[in-house]
Amino acid sequence: MSGDANHFALPTLRFLTCGSVDDGKSTLIGRLLYEQKSIFDDQMSALERDSKKHGTVGDDIDFALLVDGLEAEREQGITIDVAYRYFSTKKRAFVVADTPGHEQFTRNMATGASNADLAILLVDARKGLLPQTRRHAFIVSLLGIRDVVLAVNKIDLVGHDPHVFSSIVKDFETFAERLNFRSVTPIPVSARYGDNLSEPSQAMPWYTGPTLVGFLETVEVRDRRADGPFRLPVQWVNRPNLDFRGYAGTVAGGRVSPGDEVAVSASGRTTRVLRVIASGHDVEAAEAGDAVTLTLADEIDIARGDLLADPKARPPVADQFAAHVIWMSEERLLPGRSYLMKIAEKLVPVTVTDLKHRIDINSLEHNAAKTLGLNEIGFCNFATSAPIAFDPYGKNRDTGAFILIDRATNATAAAGLVDFALRRATNIHLQDLAVTKAARAALKHQKPAILWFTGLSGAGKSTVANVVETKLHARGVHTVMLDGDNVRHGLNKDLGFTDADRVENIRRVGEVAKLMVEAGTVALCSFISPFAAERRMVRELVEPGEFVEVFVDAPIESCIARDPKGLYKRALAGEIRNFTGIDQPYERPEHAEVVLAAGEATPEALADQVIAALEERGIIQRF
Ligand code: ADX
Repeated sequence: MSGDANHFALPTLRFLTCGSVDDGKSTLIGRLLYEQKSIFDDQMSALERDSKKHGTVGDDIDFALLVDGLEAEREQGITIDVAYRYFSTKKRAFVVADTPGHEQFTRNMATGASNADLAILLVDARKGLLPQTRRHAFIVSLLGIRDVVLAVNKIDLVGHDPHVFSSIVKDFETFAERLNFRSVTPIPVSARYGDNLSEPSQAMPWYTGPTLVGFLETVEVRDRRADGPFRLPVQWVNRPNLDFRGYAGTVAGGRVSPGDEVAVSASGRTTRVLRVIASGHDVEAAEAGDAVTLTLADEIDIARGDLLADPKARPPVADQFAAHVIWMSEERLLPGRSYLMKIAEKLVPVTVTDLKHRIDINSLEHNAAKTLGLNEIGFCNFATSAPIAFDPYGKNRDTGAFILIDRATNATAAAGLVDFALRRATNIHLQDLAVTKAARAALKHQKPAILWFTGLSGAGKSTVANVVETKLHARGVHTVMLDGDNVRHGLNKDLGFTDADRVENIRRVGEVAKLMVEAGTVALCSFISPFAAERRMVRELVEPGEFVEVFVDAPIESCIARDPKGLYKRALAGEIRNFTGIDQPYERPEHAEVVLAAGEATPEALADQVIAALEERGIIQRF
């Protein structure tokens, strides 16, 4: 690869290409690599051979095969991630984040774009702007990329017609008016023949603007992160022996030198930097993008995920904030459900407390929505389980971007960009109460708990719970009963049976049950609660040992046969939608404290099993 040695000496431009495969993105990148001689010789001869065999362009070299070939290799691997390609000219080195073009790969776009300086949006001259072009342009602007090239490709296939070019440019400019771009540079190109890539095209004398490479070589962009205040998300604490304790990570903003004051954002404590170590050597300074280890003057409590910052420009610390999210999972976003959030190096449980709106990518309108599906973009309020330090994404792309992780599958569910902290959260402080949960429970001579009955409709949850409550009552235990059918007549009468509403149903019931535990009582809760995530959420609301999950396990056939309320009959006839077990799933508990084989014993006998389990756990005393 010629020019490779220059990569490190030359100023570097990072850019992203977006467009679908059909728009000629692969051909464009392949051709750029080829023209700058950034292709290995063996790749080149393979390319010539493959072009003859599989190419779609006659005897010419099919550059798309080069890039698509690499892509196919990548797809066979485990990850479908962003691939970076490198090439350089005499003036600049380039890093291209290449992302597959299909709709479902928006996630790659989002991750590839987050550190790009510029984006090339590819449009097929024959097709004009597609919804996907708009989506990509919107994501690019959301990600804070301010400069875009609108490459109108396959211009040869419309006879190099200047009118086609100008009408596409006009369309795009009308759309982009509402996006926050600093510059939009339209260039008519033919990736296949190389027109207006490195050399001005002979076929388009009407075009007097720059070539693509000419523009990329001269466009002014620079990494603004180094101008901002110092930020270092701590990736790990390096403690090889008792004499050395270093905090390692990649500088995410500003600069740092020995002697600088730094603050640990969560605790607010400050100290001084003793040494800055990069690649094993002490250095005088490091800046955004550099991997470093710092040693500090004082021994203060710092852990992985903490953010070290300039004490004079501290990041906000909050547990509620507003953010844009790009949803990337087949499983829809459910407000109220607990996800894991990874922001900088910090991992913390988070829920969406309010989905404010979904953004229509064609009209950019804000629409009301209860959930987000794959590739949809929304604006939400979030609440984390503990305060976190961050910057608004507009100020810092590293400390203001996050991903959401599905807690059941560990898959990335979304990419997010923090907009601002919600002040209301910081104005409310928890009150210290004089009478505690333990004191209230002691007065009743009992241990508070949640008995959570889960299972299909008609499995017998309420029946068994009723018998259990009768038995507890007879023993002098103070109880309260929360039952799905009843709570849905009061507190939750605004909720239906969509999965979003079921999540909210259980979230509210969980909070109420927690208050009951605070009151020192035993709360019996009887809800289908079909999702494992929400049952776990309630479990995590109280102390270990206070949540007892009782799985009332009845085969769906016997529930249908019993059908005490006649609901299965109607659901099977299609009269009731979203019915658990019929057209909505029930996730069986895997770690329930008590599993009752319902239908095989009387409610009385099943209730005795629950009572025995409570005795065993010390929640009630043995007779
Ligand atoms: S949950 O799924 O949100 O936990 P919940 O236990 O509150 O459900 O309410 C379930 C009760 O509502 C059922 O026992 C049944 O009587 C009634 N019901 C009405 N429509 C449905 C439906 N579509 N799916 C399940 N239960 C329904």
